[in-house]
Amino acid sequence: MSTQRIRMAKNDKLESYRVWDLPTRLFHWSLLLLVIACWWTAGEDGDIDWHMRCGYAVLALLLFRLVWGVLGSTTARFSSFVTSPRVVFEYLFGARENDALQAIGHNPAGGWMVLLLLGMLLLVSVTGLFANDDIMSEGPLAHYVSERYSDLSTSWHESGFYLLLVLVGLHIAAIAFYLLVKKENLVQPMLTGIKHLPRGIELRQLHPQKAWLALLILGCTSGAVWLLARFA
Ligand code: HEM
Repeated sequence: MSTQRIRMAKNDKLESYRVWDLPTRLFHWSLLLLVIACWWTAGEDGDIDWHMRCGYAVLALLLFRLVWGVLGSTTARFSSFVTSPRVVFEYLFGARENDALQAIGHNPAGGWMVLLLLGMLLLVSVTGLFANDDIMSEGPLAHYVSERYSDLSTSWHESGFYLLLVLVGLHIAAIAFYLLVKKENLVQPMLTGIKHLPRGIELRQLHPQKAWLALLILGCTSGAVWLLARFA
């Protein structure tokens, strides 16, 4: 497992550890911008063509992240941060006061939050493919299903987005909690890839995956989504 408890003494010397690779960081911040763009372009006053383009981009990114979760750098892999509910429980309630729980990668609770976020984003993206706006636009797969199913998909697409907002709210609240209460800045590593931890501690280091592989995967997932949008 990629996390471990470390008791931090006040005068510990800090060292820089690489925590997140560039593809994972670019994925995160592009996803944030694209989700905002999807929200901005949705609804009656929005622009459905741009909404669909941004939605396709979100889908391509998500598919990339799923593959990167298997083939990517160690901290991006699902196997490094998906733990059993018992581990999450122990992490949340077992930590004694004054213990600093540091992690190379997602902590056990954060790992499950990542799964929830990715799952909800996937649900919203996939239901969008079958949705219709009751006027003249519909997702590329809507004509393969009955009108009833397409309407159902549309309502899941909309409610799923509100659920996603709730999860994003929780996600940001957790990050603020770490910053304000645990005095641990998680945002900086997601920006720079680097985390500062006490020198000499035994941690599993990040093993970065090749950048060309990330580009290849993104190329394939973007191509697949483009084919879907163009020819389905
Ligand atoms: C639409 C809004 C957002 C979505 C959908 C989202 C989604 C995600 C996802 C999927 C991850 C996992 C990254 C990965 O392993 O690939 C993640 C991690 C993270 N996000 Fe966000 N995020 C959003 C907004 C934000 C914002 C506004 C911030 C900063 C204030 C932020 C800060 C972080 C940080 C610091 C992590 C790493 C947490 C850790 O250290 O385990 N996110 N986010």
